[in-house]
Amino acid sequence: MSKLKIAVQKSGRLNEDSMRLLKDIGIYIDNGKDQLKASAKGFPVEVFYLRNGDIPQYLKDGVVDAAIIGENVLIEKGNDIKVAEKLGFSSCRVCIAVPKSSTYNSIKELNGKRIATSYPNTVQNFLKENGVTAKLHIINGSVEIAPNIGLADAIVDIVSSGSTLFKNNLKEVEVILKSEAVLAVSPLLSEEKQAILNTIQFRIQSVLKGRQ
Ligand code: PRP
Ligand code: MG
Repeated sequence: MSKLKIAVQKSGRLNEDSMRLLKDIGIYIDNGKDQLKASAKGFPVEVFYLRNGDIPQYLKDGVVDAAIIGENVLIEKGNDIKVAEKLGFSSCRVCIAVPKSSTYNSIKELNGKRIATSYPNTVQNFLKENGVTAKLHIINGSVEIAPNIGLADAIVDIVSSGSTLFKNNLKEVEVILKSEAVLAVSPLLSEEKQAILNTIQFRIQSVLKGRQ
């Protein structure tokens, strides 16, 4: 019998809650620290530990069958991938932030300005909807540093507690979208694997109900 391949974030904010959810639904994994792939005990599932940003493409290509991933990453990179279930953890929002000292009244003020972000597609779509043209600087991490080093006038990044913005003297001025962890599914899923996924989804629904 073929196994369902599930991707989870290798390290970072989603990892711990993702592993806890798998455990709560009865998928037990020997977690050798440097292992990038592990088989579950007593269940036809393999878990792949991957970088967040790589997961949407793996889903599109059917390299993995399903993933626990932030909705924000799917919106940025995988808009044809189906969300099977919202998972109720890792809530955050994708926001525009500017230096605390700057006056900001409207998105129009970003016309011609420089924006640093790891979410270029999301930003571009939002700017377009608002009739604004700006210059994007794509950075893969520590985006909040950009205004302080003179690289950008504004940033777009995820905000959870708000502590990173606060520490970098930035203020949130627009919410582009809200996000949480989701169970995402490859468009190439076979019928055999769909049956395994159905069982998993059913178990997830029970666990989430119990958590309420
Ligand atoms: C993430 C994100 C924000 C921060 C938001 O960064 O990029 O910077 O968390 O969380 P907060 O509102 O609770 O402070 P992360 O720490 O994962 O590091 P990275 O950006 O360097 O990848
Ligand atoms: Mg960050």
